[in-house]
Amino acid sequence: MTIQDTLTDQEQLAGLSHEQLEKLVGLVDYDASADNFPIVGWDALVWVVGNATATAQLMQVVYGMELVAYAGPETGERSKTSFVLRSGAARFVIEGSVRPGGPLVDHHAKHGDGISDIALQVTDVDRCIEHARKVGATILEEPHDLTDEHGTVRMASIAAYGDTRHTLVDRSAYKGVYLPGYVERTTQVVHPKGSPKRLFQAVDHVVGNVELGAMDEWVDYYNRVMGFTNMAEFIGEDIATDYSALMSKVVASGNHRVKFPLNEPAPGKRKSQIDEFLEFYDGAGAQHIALATNDILQTVDVLSARGVQFLATPDTYYEDAELRERIGQVRVPIEELQKRGILVDRDEDGYLLQIFTRPLGDRPTVFFELIERHGSLGFGKGNFKALFEAIEREQELRGNA
Ligand SMILES: [Fe+2]
Repeated sequence: MTIQDTLTDQEQLAGLSHEQLEKLVGLVDYDASADNFPIVGWDALVWVVGNATATAQLMQVVYGMELVAYAGPETGERSKTSFVLRSGAARFVIEGSVRPGGPLVDHHAKHGDGISDIALQVTDVDRCIEHARKVGATILEEPHDLTDEHGTVRMASIAAYGDTRHTLVDRSAYKGVYLPGYVERTTQVVHPKGSPKRLFQAVDHVVGNVELGAMDEWVDYYNRVMGFTNMAEFIGEDIATDYSALMSKVVASGNHRVKFPLNEPAPGKRKSQIDEFLEFYDGAGAQHIALATNDILQTVDVLSARGVQFLATPDTYYEDAELRERIGQVRVPIEELQKRGILVDRDEDGYLLQIFTRPLGDRPTVFFELIERHGSLGFGKGNFKALFEAIEREQELRGNA
């Protein structure tokens, strides 16, 4: 039996249909009745940064996100500023400390700008926590209610890789803009006439980098705790270049809304890009966030004009006969992709277009991917080698031999 699941509040707000989500992020139907840990979808990606005011502004001015809510000293929140931003169904919460010392300062001192919480919407927080506890997950916050005049949100948190956590949120009885304690805010940024309404529509996947030998443990964790299934895309030595290598496995929630590729370093002649992440992030953490767009060319053009730097793709990528053959027919001439450095990958279900930004902060850690899916449910396995070589050229510039 398959069940068409419900849309998240963010998806409804963004006017996205089930059919559009199938195309955008590869949503599938599944039977949730046997699921011990039924996940509706993403709730929010919570970032801890050194300057939330500036990062929130950047995400609006450059990435076209919309400010929807805020908490900070002016609203009675004494320790931090917290900006809630939205683009389509994607919600980011950007947090920074307003005081010297405290957990956000510690998080930032250790990791630099990064993602502290991959929050997920669930239908029954207590049932999820009960199951998670039974199978040995670490409960960081027990189920509790937050209430204001807009209703009640029930939430709890469990530990994931490194200092990352998953907060589980049931907001079905809440009508407010984000959470109790937040006030509504609207964006003050005015984009020039003709600018696209939004540059991305949803979060497609979040990649976690974990320590050597830990990947299978985390695959097992997501299987055991969240009932995630392993997706076909398993990568071993076949993507190793001469200089660095990684191992990667992908787990996904029943409806495939939430997809977590997990990487661990593999030995190469030089330091792997995953090792570099682990060193600069000081442990395991979220490496990249893939943002689904239905027009990657336009998004890349707008972001480039606003100063976003993407990883360069060598011309040989587009000129190589074998690769061209594999790419086949895509919706635009290959030259249009080459101009922008957009990568193509193809499998039996279709193809995808993707591109990666340079790291967002001062450390060579977290970055964005843009992804436009055309049937393919993959993650660009065929592009790993091309991507690797591009990342290695950058690594070399940082003296990371
Ligand atoms: Fe990715």
